[in-house]
Amino acid sequence: MLQKPRGTRDFLPDEMEARRSVEWRLRDVGRRWGYREVCTPEFEDLELFTMRSGEGIIEEMYVFEDKGGRKLALRPEITAAVIRMYINEAKVAPKPLRWYYFADCFRYERPQKGRYRQFWQFGVELIGADTAMADAEVIMLAADMLNATGATYELKVGHLALMKNLLADLEPDTQRKVRAHLDKREYDNLKDALATMGKTDLAESLVSLVECRTLEDAFMIAGEVPGRERIEKTLYALDAYGVKYTLNFGIARGLDYYTGTVFEAFADNLGAENQILGGGTYRLAHLFGGDDVASCGFAIGFDRVMVSLGEAKPRQDTVVGIVCTEEGRSRALEVAGAFRTAGIRAEMDLMERGLGAQLAHASKSADFAVVIGKREAESGLVTLKNLKTGEQKSLDLPAAIAEVGSHGAR
Ligand code: HAM
Repeated sequence: MLQKPRGTRDFLPDEMEARRSVEWRLRDVGRRWGYREVCTPEFEDLELFTMRSGEGIIEEMYVFEDKGGRKLALRPEITAAVIRMYINEAKVAPKPLRWYYFADCFRYERPQKGRYRQFWQFGVELIGADTAMADAEVIMLAADMLNATGATYELKVGHLALMKNLLADLEPDTQRKVRAHLDKREYDNLKDALATMGKTDLAESLVSLVECRTLEDAFMIAGEVPGRERIEKTLYALDAYGVKYTLNFGIARGLDYYTGTVFEAFADNLGAENQILGGGTYRLAHLFGGDDVASCGFAIGFDRVMVSLGEAKPRQDTVVGIVCTEEGRSRALEVAGAFRTAGIRAEMDLMERGLGAQLAHASKSADFAVVIGKREAESGLVTLKNLKTGEQKSLDLPAAIAEVGSHGAR
C-alpha cells in the first residue's frame, strides 16, 4: 500500500473544519488591523533563500532542477518571497504596506510531533515603516492573533543589539555559531565553545543576558547600544496596549536577516516543538535589487497551534437526511434544494436502499430526517423526524425548514 511522504499529513474533514475555523479567526484579526492577503509561488529560484535565510534552513531545503536547468527550491519560509514580490510588484506603492499570508512551507527536518516537512505558516509583513510604533504594531498584532486562536502561550520579546554588542569582538563565523547555540538554548555547548577560545567571561555574560528580565539589567550586562530609545518606546506601546510578554535577550532567531527587535511565542502545553510564532525587524529588499526598506513581521506555526488546541471536534452544523421512496424522489430533490437554499446541509440517499435502511443511516449521520413517500409527494407536506428525540411531525416545507433552522448548532 502506498503511503504519504514522510513528514507530511492527510487531513480528514473534522480536522479540516477545525483548521479552517482557526484560519478564519486569524484572517479576521488581520483584516481588522488593516492587513491584506498576498500569495507567492510555492517554489522560487534557489538563490532567493540562500542569500539570507541562514545555514539551518539552507541545509533543510527541498532543492530541484527543472527541465530548463533552473535551480529551484520549495519555499522553506515566505518572508524572502514576499519581499521579492514587493520589489517586483509594489515598490512604488505608498508605505507602509500591511500584508498577510497563509501558506505551506517545506523543510527537510526530522519529523516529530509539531515538526513536519510540509507545514503551514500564517504570517504578517509590515513593509516600509522603520519606527518603534511599527515594531510595536506587529507584536501587538501577533498577540491579538494568538489570543484569537485560543492557544495559551508565553510571548518573549528581545533585541539583537545587546547580544551583538557582547559578541562584537568575535569573527562573524564564530558569532553565528554562538547565536545558533543560544537560539537552540544549548548553554553547555556554548560555554565549551567559548572556553576553548579563552572567553569564559563572555560565556558568563551571555548566559546572564539570556536570563535577565529587565531592560536596566540587560543594558548593564551588554553595555549601551544604539537604539535604546526605540526599544523603550516599543515596550511602552506594548504596555499601553496591554500585551503580556516577558523580556528575553537570548532570542537569536534561526534566520540571518533580522536586524533589531525579535520576538517568539511558546505554547504552554507542547513539548520540545513548542515555538508557535517567531518574528522581528529585518532588511532584505536591498539584497534582491530593491531599496533598503525596513520591515517587520512574524509567522505563526499554524500546525503547532492546532496541536496545542487539541483534538478536532466532530462536525458542528445541523444535517438533514432526505429519505424517500421511488415515488417521492422528484419531490425529495426539490425539498433537498430548498433546505440547501436556506443554508442547511441536506444529504440525499445515493445507495438506492429501502426507507428503513435510509432512516437507519440518517440516524448515524444526521440530526433530522425528512421523509418523502407517496403520501408526502401527493400532499405537499413533509414528515420531519428529529433523530435525537424520535419526535415526528407532518409539516409544510417552510415550517420544516424553520424548525430545523431554529435547532441551531449541535
Ligand atoms: P521561523 O521561526 O523559521 O520564522 O518559522 C515560524 C514558525 O513556523 C515557527 O515558530 C514554528 O512555529 C513554525 N515552524 C517552523 N518549522 C516548522 C516545522 N518543520 N513544522 C511545523 N512548524 C514549523 C520564519 O519562517 C520567518 N519567515 C518569520 C518571519 C516573518 N519573520 C519576519 N517575518
